[in-house]
Amino acid sequence: MCGIVGYIGPRSAVPILIDKLRRLEYRGYDSAGVAVLEHGTCTVVKTVGKINDLAALLEQHPLDVNIGVGHTRWATHGQPSTPNAHPHTGNSGKLAVVHNGIIENYVELRRELEGQGHVFRSQTDTEVIAHLLEEKLDNGAEGDLYRALQLAAQDLEGAYAVAVVAESCPDRLHVVRKDSPLVIGLGEGENFIASDPTAILPYTRRVLYLENGDVGVITREGVALSDLQGNPIHRDVTEITWDVGAAEKGGYDHYMIKEIHEIPDAIRHTLRGRVNSDGKLAVTDLGLSDDDIRALKRIYIVACGTSYYAGVVGKYLFERILRVPTECDIASEFRYRDPIFEPDSLLIVISQSGETADTLAALREAQRHGVKVLAIVNVIGSSMYRESDVNFPTWAGPEICVASTKAYVTQLVCQYLLAFHFAVVRGQMTKEEADRLVGLLLQVPGQVQQILDGEDIYRELAENFMESRDFFFLGRGLDAAVSLEGALKLKEISYVHAEAYAAGELKHGPLALMWTDVPVFVTATQLELYDKTLSNIKEVKARRADVIALVRQSNTDIDEHVDWVIRIPETDDILMPFLTIIPPYLLTYWLSYALGREIDQPRNLAKSVTVE
Ligand code: G6P
Repeated sequence: MCGIVGYIGPRSAVPILIDKLRRLEYRGYDSAGVAVLEHGTCTVVKTVGKINDLAALLEQHPLDVNIGVGHTRWATHGQPSTPNAHPHTGNSGKLAVVHNGIIENYVELRRELEGQGHVFRSQTDTEVIAHLLEEKLDNGAEGDLYRALQLAAQDLEGAYAVAVVAESCPDRLHVVRKDSPLVIGLGEGENFIASDPTAILPYTRRVLYLENGDVGVITREGVALSDLQGNPIHRDVTEITWDVGAAEKGGYDHYMIKEIHEIPDAIRHTLRGRVNSDGKLAVTDLGLSDDDIRALKRIYIVACGTSYYAGVVGKYLFERILRVPTECDIASEFRYRDPIFEPDSLLIVISQSGETADTLAALREAQRHGVKVLAIVNVIGSSMYRESDVNFPTWAGPEICVASTKAYVTQLVCQYLLAFHFAVVRGQMTKEEADRLVGLLLQVPGQVQQILDGEDIYRELAENFMESRDFFFLGRGLDAAVSLEGALKLKEISYVHAEAYAAGELKHGPLALMWTDVPVFVTATQLELYDKTLSNIKEVKARRADVIALVRQSNTDIDEHVDWVIRIPETDDILMPFLTIIPPYLLTYWLSYALGREIDQPRNLAKSVTVE
């Protein structure tokens, strides 16, 4: 996914831009570039490939400059190529633009601009912004770039975070933003721009999050903001409290395994402030009144990817505990299927980044129909965080690996706390029962740690299954819900085909694929469903598949039926998802490691998908 950086100040800009671009590498990209003002001349250096390729080019052409913008591109319009890489310039070459998002009306704008004599050199939607700015500078803005940007933005449809350097403004950077994140980092006599605060953290912790329609002009000394009409506006400074070290690998080979090992702490942090010092449920920071909660007739959970699979667990949970009909939908489906919104419903969006385009669109669609939206996001200040009616954040800390792990587990924590809290308010669970479950939840971090301490079996499994091309994950009830996330993780990181099935569906299709040595990972922790799952194991085994069973510590009868057994600590059935997800995560990591995969940045995938 694209990334924007920018710098203005007394220091040499290029090393700072390159450093910041490297900090955004985890988002995935195919090309990179910078635009700087060198002795007053706008100079663009860009290339397809990695930041190292860009850095090598810049070594051949050293630039001693103090102002510039940079970009990592993830192709949307036009192939990954050097001409399509950002920054883009217009006809004059005197200004350069970097952009995240999609300009939806770029075809019309391009046609119009070509009619006015503008010559395009790329296939991107972004290039229209550079030409449009030139046009506005000449017609309407009278050479004032700040005004030109306000006017240009009024013509743009779609999503954009844009940063501009221009020869006419050697001491200023300009920015504008709509539906694509952009933050300004405030330093001493220097300022920074980034699409993601992670890139700014080593330089400053004081940031301004731009809102939709904000236009900004940034000098060494300060920032001025306006709306698109030019009316001055104010945004509060936010102090980022994350630890920079928390965003680095901390001794592990990959962010993925580091983040898996951070799960116990991520759970503890997410429980903090919602469970009191006596270990009792105390959700007091929720902007939903008891009357709202009592009136609830329907819950929609909408998300993408791993967050969606966290929502599938939530559906089981809310329906079981609250007896409120709960739909869990993939955001890209939900937004276009003309969903029926009923009064007294609540839409829960779940998102690690808080920026996923489809989830954000679903949030807005629900609000347009008068439905209240509760956001479970990991990035405070993100678009979903700002736009939802109620926030109940996860506190997983920054997650760098493209594949989500610790965020998923904390998304479960938030949903469990909500379910318990709602159930108590609605009189469906006694406070004592909720406190009993919270007591068990408090033991979960230690239990996850026990599983993490037994990593050897996963290395052994990885060695054994290195040649396998297909994996199946089976389970029933909450075990089925978690299997979905296990299979997703395995396929996205190891590139081994993996499918999850509700074990009861076995005879309706996947049984045809069971034969000698096909690995089948069966989770069987739900006590009421255990006998049924055991029958499924026998059916699979009869076809000579290789069965790995994930069971409770107390299980004594599984060994004779399967090839491998993983035992996990005991807890209430309903809390098992916190524990049953850890073995598939570890298996995925060690199998991908054995196969030599690019674990933190799997091919074709991006951490944050801010386009449709
Ligand atoms: C991408 C990431 C996934 C993530 C999904 C949803 O596909 O690779 O790891 O689960 O987006 O992202 P979100 O930030 O909304 O949770």
